[in-house]
Order: sequence, then C-alpha cells, then structure tokens
Amino acid sequence: FPGANRWVPNSGGLRKLTAALPACHGCDLAEHAEQVVPGEGPARAALMLVGEQPGDVEDKQGHVFAGPAGRLLDKALDAAGIDRSDVFLTNAVKHFRYTTKGKRRIHKTPAVGHITACRPWLERELRIVSPRLVVILGAVAARALIGPGFKVTEHRGERVELPSGRAAMATVHPSAVVRSERFREDFALFVADLQAARDLLG
Ligand code: URA
Ligand code: SF4
Repeated sequence: FPGANRWVPNSGGLRKLTAALPACHGCDLAEHAEQVVPGEGPARAALMLVGEQPGDVEDKQGHVFAGPAGRLLDKALDAAGIDRSDVFLTNAVKHFRYTTKGKRRIHKTPAVGHITACRPWLERELRIVSPRLVVILGAVAARALIGPGFKVTEHRGERVELPSGRAAMATVHPSAVVRSERFREDFALFVADLQAARDLLG
C-alpha cells in the first residue's frame, strides 16, 4: 500500500486533520468501508486511548467506540473514575476491515500493511494532541505504536515508552473483555489498568 502520507496535513490542528481524512486512499480499506472514522476528543487531552479499527457500528455511524466495545469501554472508564469526554479516543487504523458472511459483516483484524499505511494519521494525532499518557488498547495498537516485539499480556498495566519517548501503558482491547468467558475477572483487570493509567497521570 502507498500509505497515508500524501493525505496527512503537516500543519494545522484536529479540525484540519479530520477534514483531510475522508480523501485518504493510503490502503485498500477505504474502498469497502462506509466511511472513515476520525479520532474524537479534546485537542489537548492529557490521556489518549488508541484502539484497533472501527467496528461495524462505528463504520455506519462515523464515530469511534460507538458499538459494543465502546459501551464496555464507557463502563470501564466510569469505574476507573475517568470521564470519557476528557479523553482523546482514536484507532490505529481509521477504516473498518471486514469479511462478509451472508448479509453480516464480520470484523477482520487489520494486516500489518494496513497498520503501517495508516500510521501517519495516528502520528499526526499524537503530535497535535500531545497527550501526557497514551493507553494502548490491544495488540494492533501496540504494533502500531511500539512494534512487533511487544506483548501486551506480558506488560499490561506497566508504564512503557513509545520510541518517541512519550509515556504509554498497554492493556487489552475492550472487545476481548466483551467476549471473555471470565467476564467479571477480565472486566476488573481492565478497570484496574485504566486506574493505573489515571494514577500515572498523577
Ligand atoms: N474497536 C476499536 O478498536 N475501535 C472502535 O472505534 C470500535 C471498536
Ligand atoms: Fe487511509 Fe487508514 Fe483508511 Fe487506509 S485505513 S485508507 S491508510 S485512513
């Protein structure tokens, strides 16, 4: 894939970035999705949460974490004492990747090529928002922000650094909690990680 670089503005703020996003054809995902889903939140948020990619609901509505994973994230943020409206929420990949099964659209994990192609948007968001802490939600975001060697399961809840030196912390993706067979335990662990993130902010 050519990657998003030629579509990403190298000046301006979130408004300009969001306005530029729909034109992106940095990879093939733009062709099959309904729309691009931009990050949302305050331009100077102290905390930035990075998910994987929009899901079916997000693709239809055009808003991040609007579906089942988003509802779980809302509950977990609430339990951790974090106000969703204070947080900048975005995804490593900005278009929905799926396969079809009859009329249903089934989530398909983005390939490494999609993650790489879309990374310039994420990097630009990081520059603009300049959060004090980045919360990495799951393996795709970890790959986008740190690289292939990082294992979320080995480092969840720890303070880590992005290659840029920015402070970060990784935890699981809320979808993994939604699907968990040990829901109560996994929800509690997810909340504990978000609380740790809040503590890291001080
Ligand atoms: N999962 C994500 O990673 N991001 C969303 O916006 C929705 C579901
Ligand atoms: Fe561009 Fe990212 Fe969409 Fe690919 S997924 S077309 S790189 S915005």
